[in-house]
Amino acid sequence: MSALRPRARRAPLLLALAAALLPHADRVAGGGGGGSMFGDVNISSILDSFSISYDKRVRPNYGGPPVEVGVTMYVLSISSVSEVLMDFTLDFYFRQFWTDPRLAYKKRAGVETLSVGSEFIRNIWVPDTFFVNEKQSYFHTATTSNEFIRIHHSGSITRSIRLTITASCPMNLQYFPMDRQLCHIEIESFGYTMTDILYVWKDGASSVGMSSEVQLPQFRVLGHRQRATVITLSTGNYSRLACEIQFVRSMGYYLIQIYIPSGLIVIISWVSFWLNRNATPARVQLGVTTVLTMTTLMSSTNAALPKISYVKSIDVYLGTCFVMVFTSLLEYATVGYMSKRIQMRKQRFVAIQKIMSEKKMPAECAPPWDAHSLSKAGSLSRGAPPPPRHSLGGAPPPPPRHHGSLHSVDRCRHLQEVRYKARDPKAHSKGATLESSLEDNPAPSLHTLHPTKDYGKFLGMTPSDIDKYSRIVFPVCFVCFNLMYWIVYLHVSDVVADDLVLLEENK
Ligand SMILES: *[C@@H]1O[C@H](CO)[C@@H](O)[C@H](O)[C@H]1NC(C)=O
Ligand SMILES: *[C@@H]1O[C@H](CO)[C@@H](O)[C@H](O)[C@H]1NC(C)=O
Repeated sequence: MSALRPRARRAPLLLALAAALLPHADRVAGGGGGGSMFGDVNISSILDSFSISYDKRVRPNYGGPPVEVGVTMYVLSISSVSEVLMDFTLDFYFRQFWTDPRLAYKKRAGVETLSVGSEFIRNIWVPDTFFVNEKQSYFHTATTSNEFIRIHHSGSITRSIRLTITASCPMNLQYFPMDRQLCHIEIESFGYTMTDILYVWKDGASSVGMSSEVQLPQFRVLGHRQRATVITLSTGNYSRLACEIQFVRSMGYYLIQIYIPSGLIVIISWVSFWLNRNATPARVQLGVTTVLTMTTLMSSTNAALPKISYVKSIDVYLGTCFVMVFTSLLEYATVGYMSKRIQMRKQRFVAIQKIMSEKKMPAECAPPWDAHSLSKAGSLSRGAPPPPRHSLGGAPPPPPRHHGSLHSVDRCRHLQEVRYKARDPKAHSKGATLESSLEDNPAPSLHTLHPTKDYGKFLGMTPSDIDKYSRIVFPVCFVCFNLMYWIVYLHVSDVVADDLVLLEENK
């Protein structure tokens, strides 16, 4: 008995509940026969009343003042900003508000606004809005068309659509990757001029909302601004709205992937200045490798960018790095060439010294500019009548001596040849340097020249001097360039568009 009592007590409770629900169920189902009822209001009859004598081909207030179409937008996401295609894609709710007095109905309790299915749009007039700079657009249809329409009893209509639009966005990449881009979406009526349709931003500066979910890998949305303009075309004046969104590029990617590596490549190229001058394979390889790496870095950077003809700020940096790397390769070429010239000069000097040490320079072996007198002397010694015999008592000169003097003349000629070669302007233009030291001394005495002092230099510098200066000059130049570059470009790119509604302020 005691086990049954709770069940017996529960039964009247269920009955009361059913009784409370039934009248409502009755009311909902009450429409039964035809059309939808809200209370005692027949919704279907309201909607049906619109179609009586309604011509959807004619705009509201035809012949009267233009229809004012208020617009608001709520950006859900921005999926891409592409430099190559110069466009951006955004997903947003696009809402239009206008008043059609023909759709006004008698206000009844609880029936102030009718939310109707989007198919109803086919029965009424709607503004023929289009996006001027659209490249591609997409209506969302999962699960049904993402669209609604609300009709206020006063006749004001709200239409909202979810759209994904790819719009062109001409970009100035002069300051890339420290740039800021202002991309816009333009809204205009396709067929109605200003006398028929006037577009306005419904809520002024706050007409465009942005979800906090809006995030891009490479950009930060700084803010947005709205514009309303009049466009004069050959077919008339059109009202146009523009929503501009400013993007700031986050340059972290470029810092990590391009700036730091290229700076390090430049530093690596300086290692060459600390290596031995004779380590030709090491230094050439270092130079060539760094030049090639810079080339690869430059081409891979520009492969992801449109083929624009002006210089971007990243080009300035990469170009300078390339020049620095290239110059350090040339530095080694200079050092190598100088070493070669000095080597050659030493060899020539050694050759001259060898000739002279074999036989001491004969007294009659005059300097080259006395060549005439020398040849005269030569001809005299061979073809002139014999000298007076008073000294030797008429004895003919001994043949070995004569032979010996001829030999010394040959030796002189050979020496002169060496000197002539050294003085040869052609040889000079090729970079011969022996004569430079000879010319410095109008009457050169080869014995007084010190090979270590004079031959070890080229244009007053030794190859190791060049390496020493390079160790200082290259890093100083690069540091100065970096300071100037970052100061200038970070300053010039820091531009915020006028009257921008900053996104941070909205939150
Ligand atoms: C509601 O209106 C429709 C047509 O406008 C009509 O067919 C229907 O019978 C009406 N319903 C009621 C309950 O009056
Ligand atoms: C368009 O506007 C300009 C001035 O803004 C005006 O001079 C011109 O008459 C207008 N054209 C039409 C067709 O209304």
